[in-house]
Amino acid sequence: MSQPLSSSQPASCELTVLDLVPFGQTGSERRFFALRLSRPPWEKYRPGQFVMIRPQNFGLDILWARPLGICHMTARHMICFFQVRGKGTQRMAELRPGDNVRVWGPLGNGFAMEPDTPTLLLAGGMGIVPFVGYVNEHPRPWNVSMLFGHRENIRCYPVDSINEHVPLDSLQENEPGDLGNLVFTIKERMGEYAAQKGLVLACGPTPFLRTVQNLAAKLNVRCQLSLENRMACGVGACLGCVSRTTENWPVPGKRQGLVQICNHGPVFWADQIEL
Ligand SMILES: Cc1cc2nc3c(=O)[nH]c(=O)nc-3n(C[C@H](O)[C@H](O)[C@H](O)COP(=O)(O)OP(=O)(O)OC[C@H]3O[C@@H](n4cnc5c(N)ncnc54)[C@H](O)[C@@H]3O)c2cc1C
Ligand code: FES
Repeated sequence: MSQPLSSSQPASCELTVLDLVPFGQTGSERRFFALRLSRPPWEKYRPGQFVMIRPQNFGLDILWARPLGICHMTARHMICFFQVRGKGTQRMAELRPGDNVRVWGPLGNGFAMEPDTPTLLLAGGMGIVPFVGYVNEHPRPWNVSMLFGHRENIRCYPVDSINEHVPLDSLQENEPGDLGNLVFTIKERMGEYAAQKGLVLACGPTPFLRTVQNLAAKLNVRCQLSLENRMACGVGACLGCVSRTTENWPVPGKRQGLVQICNHGPVFWADQIEL
């Protein structure tokens, strides 16, 4: 098993919006955005960790913060990347430079990083977000490659920031037959990494993760999955985000019980969590 990388204790802070850059579409169709915020006061984070974000413009009508993956951090800023889904993300899409945003983070555990192990990243749709930071932080990116399945136009996603560091193959799902093609390709690629005793890391919607989980068991390859259960508090208090662990869950007294995804995950070894 990989060594956990250290990261900072979670903290709450007020950050400033530096800019909000739309990706892909133009005009009223805009649904994908890179949100650049001033740098939080944490020393470091682990790719795969996330933040709970509550912009001032949520006002009194949106009470709960929303979880977003940390896309990338530099010495000067933190970038989140989001797709407009409902009321909260719509309000985020209306942010302007200079607006204030309350952020709690870094939260959760993050992905394993084993510099010398061949590592395959599998992303479905917005599951691409944590891998931007992952490939930037990886000390030996030549050991990493990525397969990306998506429904929207490729220009809607931050693929360039990944392509700069590691080879990325993408498959767009336009017609029903494309899904079978994606599953076939995932299986082939995971088989290659199983043969090399590699590591597979996956992030995306639950059906995508389920496919990867089943293949990981069949091919006997070490695999981690990042779950995106709905969250309210983000810190283990409300029990709104629980999933059931399997008999392989290593925490004593917690075998085959329910665990909070926000503070025990969101990243789990594929054989330790039920989807
Ligand atoms: C750990 C974690 C990391 C995440 N990272 C990102 C990210 O980097 N970028 C990004 O765009 N989104 C991310 N999400 C999903 C994001 O949090 C939700 O899309 C957002 O909270 C929706 O809020 P809303 O108010 O706009 O939508 P709501 O009005 O609350 O819901 C609108 C629709 O979105 C669906 N929805 C809400 N939450 C989720 C969820 N967690 N997963 C799937 N569907 C959901 C609802 O079922 C509903 O159909 C992440 C979620 C988690 C748990
Ligand atoms: S979101 Fe509250 S316990 Fe996980």
